[in-house]
Amino acid sequence: MTILVTGSRGRVGTTLIGLLHEQGFTVRAASGDPDELVLPDGVPDVKLSLAEPHTFPDALAGVDSVFLYANPSHIEEFIKIANDAGVQHVVLLSSSAVLSPDAKNDPIARQHLEVEDALASSALPCTFLRPSAFASNAFYWSWQLKTTGTVSLPYPGAHTDAIHEADIAEAAVAVLKDPALRGGAYTLTGAESFTFAEQIDVLARATGRPFAVDAITPEVWKAEMADHVPAAFADGLLAYWRSRDGNPVDLTTGVDELTGHPARPFAVWAAENAAAFVQ
Ligand SMILES: NC(=O)c1ccc[n+]([C@@H]2O[C@H](COP(=O)([O-])OP(=O)(O)OC[C@H]3O[C@@H](n4cnc5c(N)ncnc54)[C@H](OP(=O)(O)O)[C@@H]3O)[C@@H](O)[C@H]2O)c1
Repeated sequence: MTILVTGSRGRVGTTLIGLLHEQGFTVRAASGDPDELVLPDGVPDVKLSLAEPHTFPDALAGVDSVFLYANPSHIEEFIKIANDAGVQHVVLLSSSAVLSPDAKNDPIARQHLEVEDALASSALPCTFLRPSAFASNAFYWSWQLKTTGTVSLPYPGAHTDAIHEADIAEAAVAVLKDPALRGGAYTLTGAESFTFAEQIDVLARATGRPFAVDAITPEVWKAEMADHVPAAFADGLLAYWRSRDGNPVDLTTGVDELTGHPARPFAVWAAENAAAFVQ
């Protein structure tokens, strides 16, 4: 069985490739920029940009299963070419944001929902993984924490659950391996619901540094992020954080069901990545 992993430069994709390779699967690593990949020996790469349909046929030739990142720009062409290539199963890295009643009006949720809908109405067997906020989002704070020890946040009291990328990758391995799990939609959360301020306390303990939070207004945050985050995405994030302010995340048993172990606590991720938060 040949498994094509898209998003190979991403943290979930990279982890998944390592796990599949260790377990003896034939893996092909697809990336928009294969030259940047660092792959285990014996794993071939292929150019595949989900925004460039001419890259689809070569990447999909001879592939049985695909681990797919949610990019709706050319999803219909992707499905057609995958069908023509004989792909038997697509595992989508979706998002729990699709479960929001307002998902169609949220730019982040909508991009995942459009891909889910296109796959669900196709003949391709598909499985949806719907993780919540990634633990690795904490890397967005690394520069501020490293240089000033303080991170500016518009909603420090917003709850998150910070799922470890290894839990998502292990869940993907499970659904790729076990036909009985195929076809489901799995909401995956981290081990605990905590506020951003509490999450930064965990990073402080992991690094031994006295990190602090500076509460700023949503308007100031949006202006500070203007060069990096498109306005519509910034508005979507702010609305989401506002909805989570003082509002714990409903935790699921999805990771446990698929991997056979509880989700990793954020403290595990923080200990593994502490070096990224200190000079
Ligand atoms: N972050 C979250 O909290 C969250 C929550 C739920 C769902 N998701 C979904 O999960 C997926 C991964 O999210 P992520 O934010 O954690 O991103 P990520 O894993 O870091 O991956 C981002 C992807 O962007 C591409 N990319 C383009 N330029 C890159 C560069 N210079 N370095 C590394 N990668 C580059 C890569 O794909 P190629 O190698 O194929 O080019 C890479 O896989 C997204 O589809 C996102 O919508 C994220």
